[in-house]
Parts: sequence; structure tokens; C-alpha cells
Amino acid sequence: MSRSTIAMDASTTTEAPPANEFREPPREAWYCVKSAGSLATGAMASVTVLGEQVVIGRTKLGELFALRDRCPHRGAPLSEGRFDGVAITCPFHGWRFGADGRCRAMPTLVDGDVTDPGQVKVGEFPIRESDGIIWLYLGQRPELAPPVPVLALAGKTRCRVAVSVLVEASYDLSVLSLIDPGHVGYVHNSWWWRPTATAQEKVKDFEPLPFGFRMKAHKAAANSRGYRLLGRPQTEVDFLLPGQRIERIRLGERAIVNATFATPIDTRRTLLTNVLLSDLPQLMPLAPVIRWAGHAFLRQDQRILELAQQGLERKPTMLLLGQADRLAQWYFCLKRDYAAARREGTVFSNRLGPERLRWRT
Ligand code: FES
Ligand SMILES: [Fe+2]
Repeated sequence: MSRSTIAMDASTTTEAPPANEFREPPREAWYCVKSAGSLATGAMASVTVLGEQVVIGRTKLGELFALRDRCPHRGAPLSEGRFDGVAITCPFHGWRFGADGRCRAMPTLVDGDVTDPGQVKVGEFPIRESDGIIWLYLGQRPELAPPVPVLALAGKTRCRVAVSVLVEASYDLSVLSLIDPGHVGYVHNSWWWRPTATAQEKVKDFEPLPFGFRMKAHKAAANSRGYRLLGRPQTEVDFLLPGQRIERIRLGERAIVNATFATPIDTRRTLLTNVLLSDLPQLMPLAPVIRWAGHAFLRQDQRILELAQQGLERKPTMLLLGQADRLAQWYFCLKRDYAAARREGTVFSNRLGPERLRWRT
């Protein structure tokens, strides 16, 4: 994790964060780990979040489970064993564990051994599926955390594309890329999105959300080809803790939801997942193009984030200046207040207010 210190813009009211307070990604948060379609009934997979190796699976009854991916006997990864849709057999000595983590059988036991396998249990984690995404929670009190986001559309989902890229950069640096208007014209300046440096001054209105903030509905940017193709629709963007950007583009009765989620794999790596959902039937045949574009977007972010991470490792400081960096300041403010609330056992309350910001992008 980069040990960044943040110099805030002196003209803002957000004070500089105290050292060491909030460099880790929050543990008390739901993180996107996989697209639900990639975990079939009776299958299991190993995922790493916050440095923790977890085996997730779907029983033959379709129920999801998440267990610490470590056999309590001698530490073998359960994800390397066999799963029959009911229980996992450890690859080392064949102990069998149910989806609740409880040991069901120890094949080496004989009559007279006093051990009751049911006394041995692997740690279990909350796991959920929502809008085609699997969410994992490694903390203690999910009921106090920002909820799993709702992406739902008014109509039936006609198009769903999910792409992920693993970025060798800290969680904070990666999350900032989700709310960084200044980088779009430089990092995402492909011919098919924003061909030239056509920066314009923009005015955006923001309002607070329970665990984040919303860029209120506005006409999409004229200097982006993608938006022009859609006829410059109304778009609204939410940013939510721990690191989620959800854009809703309204096209009459229909909509496109374009969401990006950051998942901290460990202190040095962050998974960025982009999910596009729409109830627009015309988008269905375009799914391969959308997948290609989504991947290209994430790769553009990946490249610059990895380079910037190297710079932060040489000198771990950032300067957050001007209104284009205000969203980054809000992120740090939200994150710090949330960490404090969870540490002190108090209810988190968002102290951001409505604000109008201007920037050139
Ligand atoms: S390590 Fe799992 S059964 Fe021995
Ligand atoms: Fe980006």
C-alpha cells in the first residue's frame, strides 16, 4: 500500500487527513468478487480480497457460500480439493467440509478416536448475489456497512457485459480514478471516445448520498463520441463507499447502467470491474463491442495507475488541487469518517453537503 500523504487544496474546507488514519481499504464493506454467471451450480473458486484467500462456491441447491480457503488440519487450500455440490474434500487428507464450514468427516478416524469432526469449523463469510454480481464481506457487521448497490433497471435486462482488470496499484489510487474528471481527456483519449483535446468548462451539481455523493442528472458531455452516438442523453453518476461508481444513462423509458467497482486484492493490487447493464434491446447485438470498449477503458486506467503507483512509491505524496480534485477529497473524507464510525461503534453520517463544481475537461 502506498504510504501517501495528501496535501489538500488550501481553499477548501476539507482538512488534511491525519497520518496513518485511513490508508487501508475498509474491511467493513462489501466487495465485488466475480460475475455471478462465472460460478456455476456445483462449482467453487478461490478469490483473494484484502489479502485473505477465500473459497467461494455454489451448492447444488444454488446457494452461495464463502469459507476461509485454508484447511484447519495442515493448512491446505480447500479450493484445490473436490466439491460435489454439497461438501468440499480437502486435497491433503480428505477431511470433508460442508458449505457452512463445519467438518463432516475425517476419513482417518477409527472407532475409539474421541474427536468429533463437527467440532472443527472453517471460518465463514457473508456472500451475496445481486444484479449478476457476487459480493463478499470480510468484516463483522454487514448490517452497518454501505449496502450492496442496486443496479436494477425498470425493464428486463437485455444486455449485460462484465469485464475486469487487475491493477498493480493501491486501492486509494485506483478508487480515485473512478472520480477523476481531469484524466478523461488524457487517459481515455481514444478516437472512439474522445478523439482530441476538446476540453470544455463543465458545471456539475452534487448532492450527498447516505454513503457517498451523486453528480445530479445532466446532459452528457458533448465532447465525447460515445455519448453523442446515444444522442447526448441525461446521465447521473453516484459514487459510493468503499469504491463504486454507478452511472445511469436515461434513454426515455430505458436506461444503461454503467458501473465500476474497485476490489482490494491485497496491499499492492486492486481489481477493477466494469459492469454494463441495459434494458435497451438494440444493445444486445453490440455486446462484443461493449466488452471490447469496456476492456480497453480499464486497460487505459491500468497502464497509467501502474505508472503513477511507481511514482508514489518513490515519493508517497499527492497534491489535490482545484475543483476537479474535490471529489478525491470527498472520498478521503467519507472513508475517514466511515473508518472512525466503525472503530468507535457509532452510526456513520455523511457530512458532505450539496455543492456546485466547475472544471475543464
Ligand atoms: S490439510 Fe486438509 S485434511 Fe489435512
Ligand atoms: Fe479512467
